[in-house]
Amino acid sequence: MYVGVDYYPEHWPRERWETDARLMQEAGLNVVRLAEFAWVMMEPEEGRFTFDWLDDALAVLHARGVSAILCTPTAVMPAWCARKYPETLAMQTNGQRIVWGVRKNNCFTSGAYRLLSERITRAMAEHFQHAPNVIGWQTDNEFGHPVCYCDTCRAEFQDWLRARYGTLEELNRAWGLHFWGHYVGTWGEIPLPVANESANPSALLDWQRFYSWLNVRFQRDQVRILREYFPDTFITHNFMGFFSDLNYYDLAEDLDHVSWDNYPVWGAPRVMSDAAAMGDLMRGLKGKNYWIMEETAGPGGWGSFGRNPWPGEIRLVAYQQLAHGADGQIWFRWRTCTAGREQYWHGLLGHDGKPLRRYQEAARTAGEYHALAPHLEGTTVRAEVAFIYDYESIWALRFQPGFAENNYHAALQRYYDAFFRAGINVDFVPPTADFSTYKAIIAPDLHILPDALAERLRAYVEHGGVLLTDCRTGVKDETNLCHARTLPGLLAEVLGIAIEEYESIAGDVGFTLHGRAPLAGQFTAVHYADWITPRGAETLAAFKEWHLPDAPAATRHHFGTGVGYYVGTVVKEPAFYDALIADLRITARVAPAEIALPDGVELSVRKGDGKEILFLLNHTQQEQTVSLPAGLTNLLTGQPANRSITLERFGVAVLRK
Ligand code: GLA
Ligand code: ZN
Repeated sequence: MYVGVDYYPEHWPRERWETDARLMQEAGLNVVRLAEFAWVMMEPEEGRFTFDWLDDALAVLHARGVSAILCTPTAVMPAWCARKYPETLAMQTNGQRIVWGVRKNNCFTSGAYRLLSERITRAMAEHFQHAPNVIGWQTDNEFGHPVCYCDTCRAEFQDWLRARYGTLEELNRAWGLHFWGHYVGTWGEIPLPVANESANPSALLDWQRFYSWLNVRFQRDQVRILREYFPDTFITHNFMGFFSDLNYYDLAEDLDHVSWDNYPVWGAPRVMSDAAAMGDLMRGLKGKNYWIMEETAGPGGWGSFGRNPWPGEIRLVAYQQLAHGADGQIWFRWRTCTAGREQYWHGLLGHDGKPLRRYQEAARTAGEYHALAPHLEGTTVRAEVAFIYDYESIWALRFQPGFAENNYHAALQRYYDAFFRAGINVDFVPPTADFSTYKAIIAPDLHILPDALAERLRAYVEHGGVLLTDCRTGVKDETNLCHARTLPGLLAEVLGIAIEEYESIAGDVGFTLHGRAPLAGQFTAVHYADWITPRGAETLAAFKEWHLPDAPAATRHHFGTGVGYYVGTVVKEPAFYDALIADLRITARVAPAEIALPDGVELSVRKGDGKEILFLLNHTQQEQTVSLPAGLTNLLTGQPANRSITLERFGVAVLRK
């Protein structure tokens, strides 16, 4: 198992390298990520390569049993690149190029930048192909910035549209350019849409798709070269969880596995259900285990810094990801830098380079991971429930949320958290996934609903699947035009409802909802309400004292041999979602958690190879006692587990069935 740190030997005198490598070895750290910002150190002037320093650093690390992941260094262009090829700098919406001196500032269509990127990638791959301790590659760093509005990008966008739509008639139709008299008569007339309140939403959606594709293409050019020299070495990239400017399914396609950067420690300690969800999404991008390429190691911040992870928290943050499928973990960063913008983004070591508390905690965690490795081999999270996670809906909602508070991730998290509290693992899947392998599909805010997807969801329910979806689902087609149908469109029969009207609920106004069994109780509807007419569905919760007395807010409907749930509003109380998910779980025959969980304690299970490993994670600052079934082994003590276990604050238990 690989556990390590992001390391920048180029920031420290050579005399220190041996100390660093020794301290890593003593802590059980066996891998580093190197060189993602070191382009100019490897190519100080165009075409002259200087890899000797990195050879030496690799050798020092190798002697201490530390392996390396090398990066293509294209996230920061050398100053000479900006000077010689000013067109490589991205153009902003005001028509001015970004001033060189930060990072992620290149245009992705610039021919010069693409050639220079391919050249340094090939030079590195060729030079390091026989280095004994290179075990993997990372492409670039955190793809997603910047968007460029230069003429080359505009021409490529027009070409991309021509390939997608074929004729101008089709483009004019797909974008609805009859509106405001926006018909275009030549491809050259198509502008680059700038995201603002008056831009055409269909144009914006294609622009986002195009921008995503540009990044994927840029990465693919590098991957192709790396594979020539490193056919058996993994290639990954550091994704950013719920960052959603790119279609991450596409970006993951050319990679062997996904990695991501996890920084959940900010304000007061809290239950990190969002980090759990992001881990699940990262696993879902390729349907396999992933790595953490940057894991919280200390207080972070570029100007002012946030909270220091409290004792036990560095370990808890790491274990949570292990529990969700992270098979390799790397802390960002090894030693806190004394120079530049990230002087306050703290590593395991402080500025002083001493192996203190944070280092000790990482060392303890690494030691435990190595002992756990054989038990985890061949295991992953195997869920019976999947969330559809759809980038195109996220984008469309970003341009037009419909109701002001509509936020895709907030919607998703309302349902996700109910599963999380119930101790039930879930997967994330793209809208193209095979739904039939899941007992239930949760599709919050599935705003863009092409007919083919609606038909597949319908068939899924008809043949016994359980579908839950909610407000603003199915409003748009794939070109971001509103469907000319009564909502919920092609899902009307599945859900047994018609939504002829709807409304935003302003500000902090709330309306009372009365739930009936299984949702018995009183709740508060906020932000938005569908005006639902049941067409066969049964009402689980209804509005009272409202302009439409007894109007349904949540429904359940048997269709074929399956069931469709619908929630037509946003409910303030988490208890509403807990009750709803509890009912859905029974309807879908999803197995309940094997352990009853106190508030703030998370359960995640990895299975495979005939093994079952249960992780208990205490996100609270109090001790928590959890009752356990018989027959478990506590893998951290090596002893049979008792029928109850007490987790210290931020404590973790790993139990094998
Ligand atoms: C990102 C980057 C790192 C570093 C950290 C902390 O995750 O990938 O290079 O900048 O943030 O700021
Ligand atoms: Zn450009």
